[in-house]
Amino acid sequence: MATLPPPVDVNSNPYLTGCFEAVTNEGVWPNLTATTGELPADIVGTYIRNGPNPRFTPIGSYVYPVDGDGMVHAITLSDGVAVYRNKFVRTPMLKREEEVGHALWGGIMSGVVPGEEEAGPALANQWKDLPDINVVRHHGKLIALAEMSRSYSLGDKLETLDPVTYGGVFAQGTCAHPKVDPVTGEMIVFTYGLEAPFLTWAVIGADGQVTSGPHAVDTPKSCMIHDFAITATSIVLVVNPLIFDLEAAMSGGSLLSWKPELGCRIAVISRKTGAVTWHQGDAFWTWHFANAHDVDGGLVVDAVVWDRPGFGEHDDHTPSKGTFSRLTLPRTSDAINHQILVDRPMEFPRIDDRLIGQVHHQVAVGARTGREVPPGEFDAVLTINPESGSVTAFDAGTLSVGEPCFVPSSDGSTGGYYVTYATDRTTMRSSFVVLAADDVAAGPVATIELPVRVPLGLHGAWLPI
Ligand SMILES: [Fe+2]
Repeated sequence: MATLPPPVDVNSNPYLTGCFEAVTNEGVWPNLTATTGELPADIVGTYIRNGPNPRFTPIGSYVYPVDGDGMVHAITLSDGVAVYRNKFVRTPMLKREEEVGHALWGGIMSGVVPGEEEAGPALANQWKDLPDINVVRHHGKLIALAEMSRSYSLGDKLETLDPVTYGGVFAQGTCAHPKVDPVTGEMIVFTYGLEAPFLTWAVIGADGQVTSGPHAVDTPKSCMIHDFAITATSIVLVVNPLIFDLEAAMSGGSLLSWKPELGCRIAVISRKTGAVTWHQGDAFWTWHFANAHDVDGGLVVDAVVWDRPGFGEHDDHTPSKGTFSRLTLPRTSDAINHQILVDRPMEFPRIDDRLIGQVHHQVAVGARTGREVPPGEFDAVLTINPESGSVTAFDAGTLSVGEPCFVPSSDGSTGGYYVTYATDRTTMRSSFVVLAADDVAAGPVATIELPVRVPLGLHGAWLPI
């Protein structure tokens, strides 16, 4: 038996302790009711959220958010009563680890994958699937997914079903943030990889069939790209200079290098013809985009923009600075016009998903108020008017809040709510929080204290019934 790498020091990693500490129990907790306020009658459906949650003590290395088995947390609301359930995204690799009772795959930075003796012939020398970033429903399938990982469909009880490969076209998965066009029902995806073509995009029809692509986008280097945006006419792929450097990695260096001297390039791709127009400007880093839409003379993209990623070789690893920004891309030049609208630390921008690619009037984010909170945690939810930059804030106090997810009112109006899981840093108790979208500053209209802790995680979706 080959020697496995040593366990990581869990207690020294802020993403394995405190509000992020993994849970291992799975279950169903019914008959939950509001512990404060009253659950609005026009919230009917399920909120589901994914996130890294290592089943066993990680070995070799642990880097949040790229490591960690996925766990999905779903809360179904109807008639003022809720059911909460959670379950691991049980990939073949995780099943194998459960058979032996400990981790077999090292963290991504360790590069350790088990051989046949440990993993068995079917899984030997393969990277571990880690569909732990996001969850999306499309063509009747609920899909757990991440970049550079196979995607998996989930059943009604959150049980893991099959890899979703679209007939083998995406045998290695797509991206963490596919965009479902609410008008056409199409799901647009991109992929990036370490080998050419480094960047591709494709369209998956509402019936789950690939209708266009994958199309290669001409980029000279492999760059990490986490998210993108669409408009009614275009696909917007922002290529930040966070470069994969295999040669450096083979000689003991970092796999990722931040090279701001290369600047930032943005591909605007016609959804109709596939024609690519490039824009270029100074380097910045983006994890997430709120939305984009067409305007007279070009398009605008709203995003949380960082001055640098905060990791990777050549980055000075000091806290980078995130702002809510509007990027305007004129049709008549290759410029990137960058307007900072809100200058404070934030992430996880979300809109009413019924407006993806269309004009949106509000963005919600998780943000920091300035009080001392652990790395990666947010103690406020903001709503931002993307035209004026005006902000409305819910100061969550001792609660660490997650990504706010818009829930449209079931009465068919344009109004709705933002929901999220939160954990009180002083008690380590978790709750489900409901905020009115038109007045988050008023505080939760309802909270449901959950019977078990929900670790802080990543992205979620609202699934109307
Ligand atoms: Fe993300």
